[in-house]
Amino acid sequence: MTGQTHDPAILADGDDWRTRDLAAVWHPCTQMREHPDIQPLLPIERGEGAWLIESGGRRILDSGSSWWTNLHGHAEPRIAEAVARQARTLEQVILAGCTHPGAVELAERLLTIAPREPGRAPLSKVFYADNGSAGVEVALKMAFQWFANRGDEPRRTKFVALHNGYHGETLGALAVGDIPLYRRVYAPLLCEAVFAPSPDAYLARDGQSAAGHAEDAADALAHLLDEHAGEICAMILEPRVQCAGGMRMHDPVYLKRVRELCDVHGIFLIADEIAVGFGRTGTLFACEQAPGDTRSGGAGGIQPDLLCLSKGLTGGFLPLATVLATQVLYDGFLDASRERAFLHSHSYTGNPLACAAALASLRIFESDEVLARNRDTAAKMARLAAQVGSHRHVADTRQAGMIVAFELTRDGDRRTPFDPALRVGLQAYRHAVARGVLLRPLGDILYWMPPYCIDDAQLQLLAEVTAEAIGSATACA
Ligand SMILES: Cc1ncc(COP(=O)(O)O)c(C=O)c1O
Repeated sequence: MTGQTHDPAILADGDDWRTRDLAAVWHPCTQMREHPDIQPLLPIERGEGAWLIESGGRRILDSGSSWWTNLHGHAEPRIAEAVARQARTLEQVILAGCTHPGAVELAERLLTIAPREPGRAPLSKVFYADNGSAGVEVALKMAFQWFANRGDEPRRTKFVALHNGYHGETLGALAVGDIPLYRRVYAPLLCEAVFAPSPDAYLARDGQSAAGHAEDAADALAHLLDEHAGEICAMILEPRVQCAGGMRMHDPVYLKRVRELCDVHGIFLIADEIAVGFGRTGTLFACEQAPGDTRSGGAGGIQPDLLCLSKGLTGGFLPLATVLATQVLYDGFLDASRERAFLHSHSYTGNPLACAAALASLRIFESDEVLARNRDTAAKMARLAAQVGSHRHVADTRQAGMIVAFELTRDGDRRTPFDPALRVGLQAYRHAVARGVLLRPLGDILYWMPPYCIDDAQLQLLAEVTAEAIGSATACA
């Protein structure tokens, strides 16, 4: 062997690779009939910083960070080295009855950096899972079982979630999600959730401010919680940005109100920061952006009872999820009976390679002062987005830190969507891919959520191609 990282015979010819793929692979979130004609497969051989590199050498800008996972760039050498070192030492060990240094160090580190609210006992325990949906399942089950262990009768069997929210694809996660495309067919299988109006600022009408709309949504939530008092164990939400729901953003005042309401009703607050955690919205965690109590001069930020993290947790290298929990939650499972324990497990829970990647990623946050650098990058993104957003079919341009979204509508009036059959977003995607940018849309919403290492030239390319893609896709719509 020459030390090559792949068999060149497999990758030498992109077309051959595509043909073999379609004969053998069933792709996620894909209508397979659309391959290869409507959506050609991209044969990616390597990654380098913000670039994905096809087998023929063509470079494609990864503007969505490979499903929002990548933070510091593809094949980041320091993370790669940490994973390689770990692989030579301990690649996997059962986490029931055993522990390993990576699991301990990562748990300690996460508890140190987790959102904290003055006067509230901190998040103090870390439970590991191996993907985002599994992390959500863990949080939902923990909340439910805590009340069951306490012996509440009648049982609290419901969760409150938000309209247009998304929390993953497993049945529990789908039950608290509200995107019909993913949910509808499985509805008969799902546990009961109660949906509250979304605080989404795009829904504000008649000159109402984002904060005003968020306050109204919180008032509606208050009614809903009253109506279902005693039936609910937890509320789950994506703080600041409903990502899969179209990068819809809300005013952080909503987070403060939700925290207060969950306290009043004695239910757990689950913050799903799987997509927005680790700096995406400008702060390390989106929960930090909730306003403080100005009357008492208090610091801002809210602390959830359960915090779900995944995606960027490992810098985008390996699947891993964590659920951070309060001591009160943890104590509710301590008992002589095994049945009262939290008996959830996944084979790769707390995998050492994934923990090593996560620790290396967190070290980069410090050594490279990532959050400060992101503030500059986000300011550049804002300037470029203002130009792109001036197109008449862009009804709304919104930004939260390193996330920018463009809402395409028929009249640019924020109300009249394009006929879905036109698949305007898909047309934009096809145009952008041909120009070397992977701009995967959410319906007719285009967005930028790039690796944090994206440079000025790459940002310029991203903006130019997005503007072109919007022009081309809407020209004949
Ligand atoms: C907010 C949120 N929660 C949960 C998930 C599910 O994570 P995974 O795809 O790793 O199962 C996602 C995935 O996009 C997400 O955006």
